Amino acid sequence: MTQSHRQFESGAIQVVTYRRHDPATQPPSLYEPYRATVRRAPRQPLVLLPHTLSEITGPVYGHQPIAETDNDLTRQHEGAPLGERIILTGRVLDDDGRPVPHTLVEIWQANAAGRYRHHNDNHPAPLDPNFTGAGRTLTGEDGRYRFTTVKPGAYPWKNHDNAWRPAHIHFSLFGNAFATRLVTQMYFPGDPLFPFDPIFQSIPDERARQRLIASFDLATTQPEWALGFQFDIVLRGREATPFET
Ligand SMILES: [Fe+2]
Repeated sequence: MTQSHRQFESGAIQVVTYRRHDPATQPPSLYEPYRATVRRAPRQPLVLLPHTLSEITGPVYGHQPIAETDNDLTRQHEGAPLGERIILTGRVLDDDGRPVPHTLVEIWQANAAGRYRHHNDNHPAPLDPNFTGAGRTLTGEDGRYRFTTVKPGAYPWKNHDNAWRPAHIHFSLFGNAFATRLVTQMYFPGDPLFPFDPIFQSIPDERARQRLIASFDLATTQPEWALGFQFDIVLRGREATPFET
């Protein structure tokens, strides 16, 4: 039984549904400056699915499959990866501001030179034999996650003339239910590429856009070791972190 449904003594189940997104906080499925959306955006109006038990429940993950270095992307190989080491932490919250404990958080990212370890990545930047660029962890009782990694580089992506993505880390979360599934991207403060990035710019609401930018945090920063960044993620609802289309 999750917090999103209750069972009465009679056996009846009351479904507590999730609030719908405020559309201005989410990128539209069609945003022409982001060229891939032209090919993949639905051409028919969307069908709104009611929230039944199938939507308000979801997969549950235990601790066993997660290895000790899964949340430390700098310790997954023999040597340390090149680049600026960072600590990335934050809380996963529901739309009432309550922490979401024991939920799977997955990340993937380019290396410090802006290159993914992926056969489709042809950017002529070096691969790093000591960096895979994928990590995962579970949130604690307080909804907090923590990763150690390196700051990814910007990379070109051919969307338009001289197109470069701002440095970003991809996030995937399941939350408590299929309806709270979130795939998004986190950015770094002060990136000069924000005004030129159609993925970032496709979110109409300026405040929602700002929610995708981590904040530098001196308290998380470790002396002589790594800069710290905070990035809270809200699943579902008015303050929800924008979804990646
Ligand atoms: Fe990316």
